[in-house]
Amino acid sequence: MTTSASRRRPFIAGNWKMYKGPAEADALAELLKRSLTGQAQVDVAVAPPFLSIPIVVARLRHSGVHVSGQNLHPEPAGAFTGEISGEMLRQAGVAYCIVGHSERRALFGDTDAVVEKKVQACFRAGLLPIVCVGETLEEREGGQAEVVVRRQLAAALGRLTADQLPSVTLAYEPVWAIGTGRVATPAQAQEMHATIREWLAERYPPFVPRGMRILYGGSVKASNAAGLLSQPDIDGALVGGAALVADEFLGIVAAATA
Ligand code: 13P
Repeated sequence: MTTSASRRRPFIAGNWKMYKGPAEADALAELLKRSLTGQAQVDVAVAPPFLSIPIVVARLRHSGVHVSGQNLHPEPAGAFTGEISGEMLRQAGVAYCIVGHSERRALFGDTDAVVEKKVQACFRAGLLPIVCVGETLEEREGGQAEVVVRRQLAAALGRLTADQLPSVTLAYEPVWAIGTGRVATPAQAQEMHATIREWLAERYPPFVPRGMRILYGGSVKASNAAGLLSQPDIDGALVGGAALVADEFLGIVAAATA
């Protein structure tokens, strides 16, 4: 695919997973705010646990750093004990929501069909979805990586119109690279990102593949970010462990501005 030479604005998002309760989240947000307020070259978002969202939203106000949910329930409200809706996130000042993270898929039963419902729920609530796709090690070794990613894309994006797609960020997160320290090589990641952009180009008008951002996720650190971000189809990073340490995360943002 040739839509390369990325003019897309880089996007670095930190997924804090089940780390950082309110006090710690506030402290980390304060460090990010100090360094990132006023920078205008990179879109930055952090996804704290639900309970820490209000304090992080308050801390990051006027900093330019956005806040994301890590998950949402497909319904706007109802008798769903323990769940949080997109509407609630939106009311709390959240802009984005991660959908289809591999931990949700593997541990909490988020099937392709559930992921699709959650993407729709994001649009209904006015949240910008960050849709995760990625194969397991077994699937990669069995030569199924592309088949799996294409299936996940078709399910997650299937009911969206071309006009809705630029509101979606995609994140390619190979499961074997998440939390393992085993990062995909820039070439491996680029290859799948190009496949994803090609998949988009086969189905939608050119503004869709040209405009949509595809983030890489899986053991991204300050030390390996530049190599990944220099690839033409890698538009940013979805960062787990390294997003919990201010200097590491800021180093990744800096690599995206270089
Ligand atoms: P790590 O950066 O810890 O590998 O996690 C990646 C991830 O799952 C981000 O959503």
